[in-house]
Amino acid sequence: MIGVYDSGVGGLAVLREIRRLLPAADIVYLADQANVPYGERPLPEIRILALAAVRRLVDLGADTVVVACNTATAAALAELRQAFPAVEIVGMEPAVKPAAATTRNGRIAVLATEATFAAARFEDLVGRYAADAEVIAHPCPGWAAAVEEDWPEAAGDRVAEHLAPLIASGVDTVVLACTHYSFLARPIADAMGPSVTVVDPVDAVARHAARIAPAPGSGRTTYLTTGDPERLAGQVLRLLGLEVTAGRA
Ligand code: DGL
Repeated sequence: MIGVYDSGVGGLAVLREIRRLLPAADIVYLADQANVPYGERPLPEIRILALAAVRRLVDLGADTVVVACNTATAAALAELRQAFPAVEIVGMEPAVKPAAATTRNGRIAVLATEATFAAARFEDLVGRYAADAEVIAHPCPGWAAAVEEDWPEAAGDRVAEHLAPLIASGVDTVVLACTHYSFLARPIADAMGPSVTVVDPVDAVARHAARIAPAPGSGRTTYLTTGDPERLAGQVLRLLGLEVTAGRA
């Protein structure tokens, strides 16, 4: 069974793609919505939350776990792999390498949570893959919570306002490094304009997970949350267009 975990609904974008690639896989989606958003929490706290969530998925029988959350990956991937050596753990990290291959003017912006930027992993990635580029770390406080809540009508305006300094800086490539932002890809692309490439690693991570995933099962998807199951079911309907029932993690 494949476990897919996020602080909330951002990982649903990854789940959708894994499901498309593996129609017969058994998948459990776990949203840690009692603790969302993670992005403004200290890293040690996120580590504890991530260990507990993955423990829950492993107890339910997951042999592959996709940490569909950049923030939890940045804070805890090494600890998760150490704690669960028998489990394949796939993380989600800022797509700095593909962005460095895409940019024409050497100016890249990364959109992520504060915690993702605070972890050592981010600087490592930049040093390894984009040392010759100018990489602007642009946190987007409140965006993950807004996607949880149902982004208001004014999404386009709020996104454009927050991205204005990036537009002025002349970046030609923007990396979505928080899975919640996948659901804002359209307003982000509209705000940045047609000459800017938006890089979203969700599909690449789903393809990687699909390659190493366990044998097919019955094609069942189970939705669990540490928060309110009815609310999660409503969010799955809103974001994926699927009518589901959800349970308590
Ligand atoms: N979806 C998460 C990520 O990819 C984090 C959102 C949050 O809980 O702040 O970083």
